Amino acid sequence: MNINTIAIVGLGYVGLPLAVMLSKHFSVIGFDVNRTRIEQLSKYNDLSHEVSYTDLEESKIQFTTEPAFLKKAQFVIVCVPTPIDKNKNPDLSYVTSASQCVGENISSGTIIVYESTVYPGVTEDVCVPILETFSKLRCGEGFKVGYSPERMNPGDKGHTVDKIIKVVAGMDSESSNTINEVYSTITTTHVAPSIKVAEAAKVIENIQRDLNIALMNELTIIFDKMDIDVHAVLDAASTKWNFHNYQPGLVGGHCIGVDPYYLTYKAEEIGHHAQVILAGRHINDDMHKFYAGKIVKRLHKSGGTNILVLGLTFKPNVPDYRNSRVKHLIQELQEYNINVYAYDPYLSKEIIEQYFCQYCHPLEDKEAMQTIDLTLLAVEHEKLLNLIKESVFNKHDVITLRDLQSQSKRVPIHIIDTHTFYGTSDMFGVQNHTKTYFTNNLFDTTKFITIPFDSSQNKEVITHVQHNDKFLGCYLLFNPNNTMASWKEEFDSPWAIDTLLQQNHVVGLKSFPSLFHTSIQDQKYFPYYELAIKHDIPLLFHCSASGSDYSSADMIRQVCTQYPRLKLILAHFGGLQIEYMKLAVALAQEFPNVYLNTTSLDPDRIKRQVSNTSYVRSDKPVEQSKSQILELFLDAVEKIPHKILFGSDLGYYPPEEHSMWPIRELPEEKQKQILIDNPKKLFRKMKKV
Ligand SMILES: NC(=O)c1ccc[n+]([C@@H]2O[C@H](COP(=O)([O-])OP(=O)(O)OC[C@H]3O[C@@H](n4cnc5c(N)ncnc54)[C@H](O)[C@@H]3O)[C@@H](O)[C@H]2O)c1
Repeated sequence: MNINTIAIVGLGYVGLPLAVMLSKHFSVIGFDVNRTRIEQLSKYNDLSHEVSYTDLEESKIQFTTEPAFLKKAQFVIVCVPTPIDKNKNPDLSYVTSASQCVGENISSGTIIVYESTVYPGVTEDVCVPILETFSKLRCGEGFKVGYSPERMNPGDKGHTVDKIIKVVAGMDSESSNTINEVYSTITTTHVAPSIKVAEAAKVIENIQRDLNIALMNELTIIFDKMDIDVHAVLDAASTKWNFHNYQPGLVGGHCIGVDPYYLTYKAEEIGHHAQVILAGRHINDDMHKFYAGKIVKRLHKSGGTNILVLGLTFKPNVPDYRNSRVKHLIQELQEYNINVYAYDPYLSKEIIEQYFCQYCHPLEDKEAMQTIDLTLLAVEHEKLLNLIKESVFNKHDVITLRDLQSQSKRVPIHIIDTHTFYGTSDMFGVQNHTKTYFTNNLFDTTKFITIPFDSSQNKEVITHVQHNDKFLGCYLLFNPNNTMASWKEEFDSPWAIDTLLQQNHVVGLKSFPSLFHTSIQDQKYFPYYELAIKHDIPLLFHCSASGSDYSSADMIRQVCTQYPRLKLILAHFGGLQIEYMKLAVALAQEFPNVYLNTTSLDPDRIKRQVSNTSYVRSDKPVEQSKSQILELFLDAVEKIPHKILFGSDLGYYPPEEHSMWPIRELPEEKQKQILIDNPKKLFRKMKKV
C-alpha cells in the first residue's frame, strides 16, 4: 500500500470520527467548506459531541478550508451530506460540488472513496464524470474510485467506526485491495463485489429499519383503536425466537427518514414504483399527527392549553436537530391552538426560538412553568431523565411518546383516593382498625391520600406516609380555634404547622370548621390560608349540613375573593344537602381555585353513619335521593370535570365499594380524569404514581 496521506472531505458526524481513527495510522488532512467548523475543530472543539477534546488534540489532523491541500493526499474520502429536497427527491448538490472540488485538486493516482449514502450508481454514473471533467484525468487511469458506506450511529459510543464491520468496494481488484487495506487498519471489513452492491447495501439497511418501525407504528395505530396496549402485544410476540424486536416511534434524522427516498427515486427512474418502501415512509412521516391527536385529546379533557416539550433533537443524547420530527409534532399542536414551550439541554434558546417554538427553561422560567398543563418528554436525553426528577415537575403530568402509544382507555389500576383517614378517634369512635382497611386486598388497586383525626397525630401520619408505598401523601389537620380545649400550641399553631409543611409528601391542610366552631371567615383562619398559599398546597374544608354556619357558600365566596391564590377543596361536594352541593358546584365554576371531592355522596351511607360515633351530627335530615345526587354529579362533571376529586372517607367509614358508585356512571376517560389526573395535577407534593 502506497498511502501516506488521507484527506477527508466533509467533517461532520461521519467524517470527523473517521478522520480521527485514520490519523492513528496515516497523516490526515481534514477538509471542510464550513469555516466555523474548521475553526472549532482547530481548537479541538467538536460541537457534534462525537469526538473528545483529547482525541482531537492527539490526532494531529491538519484541518483546513483550503482545497489545494487535497493535492497532498493519495486517498480521499468524501463524507458530505446527501439530504432530500422539498419534493423528497435526492439532493446530490453536496456530492457533486465536493466531486468538482476534489477533481480540481487531485494528484494523479489518487483513490477517491465515497462514504455519503446514495442510491446505486451515484459514484460511477454521477461523480466519476465530474471528477474526470475537473481533473482532466480518466477514471481507471489517472484516478480510481470506490465506495464504503458508513454505519455509525450518532451518540452510540458502543458502535464506533472501529467496532463495526465496514463494507468496502473498489472499481477494480487493485483499488478494492487498497481500499480494503486502508480500512483494515481501523476495523474489520467486508469486501463487496462492486461499488453498486456496496451502495445498495447501505441504502437497504436503512430501508429495512424504516419499514420495520413503520410496521410497529401502524400496529400502534390499529391497537390504539382497539384499546389494546401495543407494548404488551410486542412483549408477548417477542417471546417467539424469530420475532424481530422493533419499537414504534418518530423517525427523524438525516438517514432512516431520508435514505429510502434515494432508492425509490432511482426505482421510479427505471420504471418501478416502490410501493412497500413508500408506504412505510408515509406511515412514519405522519406519526407526529397520531401523537399530536393524543396530546390534544388529553389536554382537552383537562381543560389545559399549555404544553412543555422536553427534547427536540432527532434522537436521545445527540445535539443534531436536523429533520427532527418533534418539530412537526410541535407545529401540529400549534395548529390546534396549543401553546407549546420547549427545552432541550443540547440546544440554545436562540435555536429553539428560531426553529421550534417558545423557550422555557423548567428551572428558571418559573412563571411560564406555572402555566404548563402537560409535559411531554419527547426525546429521552439522559440529562432530561435527570431533570424531570426535580420537584418542579411533581405537580405535572410528565408523559413520554411511549405513554401515548399504549395509553389504554381503560381506567388504569392505580386510582387515587384523596380523602381517607388514618389513626384513631375517640370522638368518631374510630379505632386503629384503619390500618387494616388500608392493607385490605379490596384496595390493592388504590393509592391513598390520608388525614389524621387529630392534629397530635400529624407527625405520625407524615412518617407513615413517607414509609408506605400505598400512600401518596397526607394532609395536616389543624384546629384554628385556640380557645378550644383541644387546641395545642405545639400541634395547631401556624408555626407548628409551617414546620411540618416543610416535610415531603405533605400535600395539603385540612380543617373541620364546624367541629371547631370557627367560621372560615374568622381571622384565626387567615395565617393558615397564607401558609397554604406560601407552600402552594390546597386547603380542604369539611363541609356538612351542620357546618353550613361555619362554611357556607357565601363565606367561601368571600374567602376566595380575599385570597384569590388560595386553593380550596370542599369536602362532600360542598355539604351533605343537595342545595349546598349545587352552590358548591357554582362556586367551583366561578372560582378557578375551588375544587370538590366526592366523599360521602351516598345518602344511604350518610343516614347509616358509623354506629359507634359519639359525635352528634346535623339534626337536619338528609333527604335527597340517590338519583338527585347522581343528576347533580353528572352535571358537575360536564361543567367542571377538572375540579372533581375522588374521596371515600375510608377510615371513618368502613371499606365499601359503593363510594365509587357515581364515578362508575362516567365514561372511562372521565373516570380516569377524576381518579388519577386531577389529583396528580393538584397535589404538587404528592409522590409520583
Ligand atoms: N450521521 C450519520 O449518522 C450517518 C450515518 C451513516 C451515513 N451517513 C451519511 O454520511 C454522509 C455525511 O453525513 P453527516 O451526518 O456526517 O453529515 P454532516 O452534515 O454532519 O457533515 C457533513 C459535513 O460536510 C461538509 N461539507 C458540505 N459540503 C462540502 C464540500 N463540498 N466540501 C467539503 N465539505 C463539505 C459540511 O460543512 C459538514 O461539516 C451523508 O450522506 C449521510 O447520509 C450519516
